[in-house]
Amino acid sequence: MKRTAIITGASSGIGREFARQIKQRGEADHFLLIARRRERLEELAEELKEADILPLDLCEEESVRVYADYLKEHRLQVVYLVNGAGFGKFGDYAHISETDVSRMIDLNSKATVLITHATIPYMEKGGHIIEIGSGSCFTPLPHFNVYAASKAFVLHYAKGLRAEVKPLGISVTCFCPGWVETEFLENAQTTPGALYPKNPKPLLKAKRVVAYGLSRARRGKLLAVTNWYTKLQHMMFKLLPDRLLTWLWLKTVL
Ligand SMILES: NC(=O)c1ccc[n+]([C@@H]2O[C@H](COP(=O)([O-])OP(=O)(O)OC[C@H]3O[C@@H](n4cnc5c(N)ncnc54)[C@H](OP(=O)(O)O)[C@@H]3O)[C@@H](O)[C@H]2O)c1
Repeated sequence: MKRTAIITGASSGIGREFARQIKQRGEADHFLLIARRRERLEELAEELKEADILPLDLCEEESVRVYADYLKEHRLQVVYLVNGAGFGKFGDYAHISETDVSRMIDLNSKATVLITHATIPYMEKGGHIIEIGSGSCFTPLPHFNVYAASKAFVLHYAKGLRAEVKPLGISVTCFCPGWVETEFLENAQTTPGALYPKNPKPLLKAKRVVAYGLSRARRGKLLAVTNWYTKLQHMMFKLLPDRLLTWLWLKTVL
């Protein structure tokens, strides 16, 4: 049976980097790469050699059925599932579009759960599930509210799932980076009239944060909070009341 790593959001940024680093370490013999942009997936598949692609829009429920059918048809032993597909849009309740709200929840939260549940039956002892949270999953963020809430869901879900799959010997890690240099930020700042972060720093390298995320997953850790700044935020989120945290976000970031 092929030791397979399944990566959603593999056409760019963090997802693509997870695929590359899993390959470099020889932790999988085969990859299944998922995102919407077919050409990007084809390029990565060529680079990784042993890889299949599924160009899918994971906001569509039909896509999850296509994915489940693929798993049924192929004899795979899934050693990694990385749910890297996700996006955020800035904009308060008055500016953000209904479509963006629905798609953020559908992709970041709902698809994460449906893809994970469809995959677990193909995982064995020693398998790793990496759900992508964010530094923003620890506190409410006005003007980035739906995104932060969709990621808080992922954190909560990952915590519960970890206990469910522990008896199977499968680990669950919630990967929580700060700002990372990918296509994410540019795509997040397209809502007319919305407030955007003045100076999103420090801007981390995908290579570095992903190496850290994988090291945490290999050790079976629940959280991978990627750098000192995000760790400090995480500590503040635990100690300070939400009202103060949201005030700080509004004053210092937007
Ligand atoms: N970069 C940051 O600052 C940052 C910080 C914290 C957390 N994160 C999280 O990290 C994850 C990866 O983001 P990134 O930084 O790597 O951003 P990115 O470069 O924009 O990558 C996002 C990935 O998601 C895929 N995707 C988007 N919509 C999709 C859809 N409807 N169906 C299937 N795939 C879809 C994209 O591929 P296609 O466009 O080809 O579909 C792409 O591969 C996201 O969950 C994001 O929320 C990022």
